[in-house]
Amino acid sequence: MKRSLVAVVLAAGEGKRMRTQGPKVLVDLLGRPLLGHVLTALAPLCRQRVIVGGKQLPILRQRFAHEKGVGFALQARPLGTAHAVKSALKVLPLRGVDVLIVCGDAPLIRTETLQAAVASHRAAGADVTVLTACVTDPTGLGRIVRNAGGALLRIVEQKDCSPRELDLSEINAGQFVVRAEALHRLLPQIGRDNTQREYYLTDLIALAKGKAHAYRIADPEEARGVNRPDELDAARKHLQARIVHELRAAGVIIPAPEHVVIESGVAIGEGTVVHPFVVLRAGATIAARCSVGPCAVLRDGAQLEEGARVGNFVEVKASRLGQRAKAMHLSYIGDAEVGADVNVGAGTITANFDGVVKHRTRIGAGVSVGAGTIFVAPVTVGDGARTGAGAVVTRGHNVPKGATVVGVPARPLAKKLKQRHS
Ligand code: UD1
Ligand code: CA
Repeated sequence: MKRSLVAVVLAAGEGKRMRTQGPKVLVDLLGRPLLGHVLTALAPLCRQRVIVGGKQLPILRQRFAHEKGVGFALQARPLGTAHAVKSALKVLPLRGVDVLIVCGDAPLIRTETLQAAVASHRAAGADVTVLTACVTDPTGLGRIVRNAGGALLRIVEQKDCSPRELDLSEINAGQFVVRAEALHRLLPQIGRDNTQREYYLTDLIALAKGKAHAYRIADPEEARGVNRPDELDAARKHLQARIVHELRAAGVIIPAPEHVVIESGVAIGEGTVVHPFVVLRAGATIAARCSVGPCAVLRDGAQLEEGARVGNFVEVKASRLGQRAKAMHLSYIGDAEVGADVNVGAGTITANFDGVVKHRTRIGAGVSVGAGTIFVAPVTVGDGARTGAGAVVTRGHNVPKGATVVGVPARPLAKKLKQRHS
């Protein structure tokens, strides 16, 4: 029978080098915490994901408890990575599964890579498999030590390396696949006879003797850990390039990829153009053949339907723009429904916040919004209506279907005037 896979995610380290308030693994990386990226990579592979947290475990629990198949274990004191895994042993099956152990601070690892490593582990009949990478700068990382014939011997932490070992460029990427039976047997054998007086998970390799295996990750970028602010920056650059690459492959047009911020999980349809200096926050969705920017911000809950256009200095939040709707210049659209074929004139604002709560603005299909209109929400504008330039449509003064309103506060245009204008 095929063995199933459970995951242990190490997240109890104190993150001293990062100098953050709160858990390091909750630091944001393009719209998702470091730990969130790791959990997302594991989700398709593992029925159970156990997060090991330290004294900040309650904060992690609060953030991830709602995710399906996610459990928690407490490591009361940060005595090392092997000690962290030990804290999770109680909730892991004794046999019949493989345990995928990953670091919560290595957010770039991909599902496909983990899957290939598990397959390689199983094909090799190994007890323990470590994921490795060959890097140009191995500073700070555990080195992979092999014998002259290339067979895997052990992992040495930087602080315990001999001068010759420091020159090794193959490093421990921080992920392991271990047969549950071997994990339960070997973990108690790990001591802390090392410079840092910690229980090192990396000792599993030497302990597994002939049953240890290495899986080398093709793209060493995936092995990047985030311990310091400059490493967070490097991870962000790499992830941004990956997101842009995947979107372009799916037919999204991004003429200046170095000048956009597109966070994780933003869905964008084919043929949509994302112009320079656009920021697309997590939780925005954009259909096919839309146009965004230059210089626009789409925040959480912004939804553009097919063919919608958002131009310069326009911010959209928690709002839907219907098919072919346009807001081309200098607007804030927040908590709004904008119907199909609406034209939003330059400088239009939805005043959504009354100082206490947010209210919604509903604009029907085909509405023509004059330049500089302010909608004081909650307010509804019927299909085909018009507002004059500079109109202030006040709270609750809904505009009927097909009507034209002008002025401050906005009032229906008098018949005579309307005729003269038309
Ligand atoms: C670790 C590895 C190193 C590897 C590198 C890859 C060990 C001893 N070293 O080093 O070989 O090259 O990752 O990025 O395993 N953690 C706990 N409890 C603890 C200590 C750590 O849960 O007591 C967690 C941390 O939150 C982190 C992960 O384990 O997510 C790795 O710990 P960290 O201190 O960052 O180890 P590195 O020095 O990066
Ligand atoms: Ca680390």
